[in-house]
This record gives sequence, structure tokens and C-alpha cells, in this order.
Amino acid sequence: MRIDVLSIFPDYFSPLELSLPGKARAKGLLDLHVHDLRQWTTDKHHTTDDTPYGGGAGMVMKPEPWGNAFDELEIDGATVIFTTPSGAPFTQEMARELATHERLVFACGRYEGIDQRVIEHAATRADVREISLGDYVLNGGEVAALAITEAVVRLIPGFMGNPESLAEESHEDGLLEYPVFTKPAAWRELEVPAVLLSGNHAAIAEWRHEQARRRTAERRPDLLHPSQAVTVGDLDALEVRAAIRGDVGEILTLQRACWMQEAQANPDIEVPALHESLDDVVGSLEAWTTHVVRHRGRLIASCRGRLEGSAWDIGRLMVAPDLQGRGLGRWLLAYVESLAPEPATSFSLFTGASSTENLRMYKKAGYRHRGAVDGVPGAVLLTKRRIF
Ligand code: ADE
Repeated sequence: MRIDVLSIFPDYFSPLELSLPGKARAKGLLDLHVHDLRQWTTDKHHTTDDTPYGGGAGMVMKPEPWGNAFDELEIDGATVIFTTPSGAPFTQEMARELATHERLVFACGRYEGIDQRVIEHAATRADVREISLGDYVLNGGEVAALAITEAVVRLIPGFMGNPESLAEESHEDGLLEYPVFTKPAAWRELEVPAVLLSGNHAAIAEWRHEQARRRTAERRPDLLHPSQAVTVGDLDALEVRAAIRGDVGEILTLQRACWMQEAQANPDIEVPALHESLDDVVGSLEAWTTHVVRHRGRLIASCRGRLEGSAWDIGRLMVAPDLQGRGLGRWLLAYVESLAPEPATSFSLFTGASSTENLRMYKKAGYRHRGAVDGVPGAVLLTKRRIF
């Protein structure tokens, strides 16, 4: 594979001489060229940026140096990757696909980005990808290009001494990797799980799969299909959809079952969900966007959201008591967050101040305590910023 990198900070890429990409180069699997974009400027100050048309803060990268670089490097037919926070999120699947390409050209933007015509022009000559490392903003695309290069290069056929080690990594099978242990079997009073010392390969494989699934349900429920997130043996056919009038009876029943637990955890609070009538729930379908989860016909979970100013107010997150603790609540929370309309810039919800399990789940999902809720004694408000 040949990789060209275009950046105004080529020194960022010196780590590529070391470690894995360095090894790939030594093996002849990688032909890497890092270029200083400023060599394609034509003015005395080697300018690469200018003020944006239409006004606004920051500077935009000028098109000419990029065009000159593309011509000289003959990008035609290559895959050109623009690293940008507004790109598609980088995934292991993308890394696997990119590892099959013969030539990658990384274009690392700085400032507020690159003149859009550079991307349009490149797309007439090459396969263009706009890729983001994640939902946060770096000072430029260099760190993203480094990370993508490392993830891709180690997947080039012939690079890994033991390709089997690739198959068991996090993300390769859609799950996070199970926990690993080495000698000694006991360390500081912590024991290695007995099954790993048993020599029973089937039991070990089953244990590892279950650990990977649990870890994924807890840390990354978004990676799991709800059926896996639930994981009671046969819960494999979940239906998730907007609630209709015909769901209301079961919503009310589930609500009473779930909030009975809340009432027990918070004995001094009047729990509104326990006092609503069928008509109240029917009326709520108008005011809220309510979704239900059914498994083989049974309504097992529900949640709702509505816009309150700029906040997507989330309520009535409920999972049937016998199915709690399996990641379905976390999954449903992420799901109802994804239903928030454009104007929402934050999420808000409230729960009982003594509902420890709920509080733990919301904290893990990124919510912060905002104190008591006016008019609802014993309840606490939690909020989270929305990330676009
Ligand atoms: N440039 C700045 N932030 C970035 C990000 N999150 N991913 C890729 N390139 C970037």
C-alpha cells in the first residue's frame, strides 16, 4: 500500500517511523510519504489560509496549494481521505475496507476547514472519503490521520504475524473484547476466574462471549441490537416503534409495575406515574413522542420524549422488572435520545433521589445532577449536553 499524507505540520507524523507502521515499511508492505503542504504555496509567506467568504470566525484553507499538491502527487484513482470532525465516524469496518486499497492520500485540514471546492475537485479524480475520529474537535486532522493509518496498516494482509489475534479483538465481531488475564493465578488477593484455569475450551469460549456481551451492553449499548442487549436466551425478535392507542393499557400496566419499585425506593415521594389513569396515558401520546418495545407480542419496555424549550425532556423510561439489568434501559435511553428533534441542544430527565440503580445508569450515560426538581419533592433533575 502507498500512503501520502498532506499537512502543514508534517512533524506530527514522525511516530510513523516507529512501532507498527515502521515495521510495515521495513517489511515492504507500506510505502509512506509525508509532505508539507506549504511546498505547494506560491507566495513568499507560504500562506495556506484566508478569511471565509460570508464572514465568520476563523480561517479557511485556500484551494490552490491543495490543487497543486494533487496534480504533482497524481491523486487520480487513489482514495483521498479528508480528516474532519464533520466526516463519517471512523470504525473498524472502515479500517478493514481501507486496508484493501492500494493507495491512500490523507488531506489534513486545519483552522475552520478546507475550501469545499478542494473536496469537490478531488471527487472528480479520486474516491473521496470524509472521516471523523469521533464526536470531538481536534486542532487539525493530523492526529486523526495518524490513528486511521495505524488502524489500517495493521490490517494489511501479511502485516500481523498471527492473524488470529485480529479476529478476537474488540470491534471485530461487533462486541468489545472480553477481559484478559495472565500469570500469576492469584495477585494481591485477586484471583483469575476459575473457568480460565479449567482447560475446558468450550466453557472458556462461552465465558468469554458472555463477558464480551455484558461489557458491550454496559459500555456500548449502541453497538448491540436490542435483542442482544436484552440477552435472555430467546429474546431475539424485538419490535421497537411509536406507541399507538392500542398500546396504552399495557403501558399503564408496565408503568405501575415499574414505578411501584420507585415508590418503594423513595417512600416519601408521591410518584405521578402510579396515579395516572388510562385517559391520562392516552392524552400523553399527544403531548409526547412515546415509543414501545415488544417481544413476541409482549410490551416489555417504553420511553417518551418531548421538546421543552431547547431541551429534549425524557420521561417514563421503563423496562419490565424481570428484564432489568440486561442493558435494555441503557439501549432505550440512547434510542430515545436519538429521536430528539433538531432544535434540542440538551437532554433532561428526572428520577427519585434514592433510586440508586437509575442514578448509576444515567451517570454512566453521561448525565449530571442538577439538583432538586421544582414541584416534585424527592426527585432530582439530570441533564446532558447533546452532541451533534
Ligand atoms: N479534525 C479536527 N477534529 C477532528 C476529528 N474529530 N476527526 C477528524 N479530523 C478532525
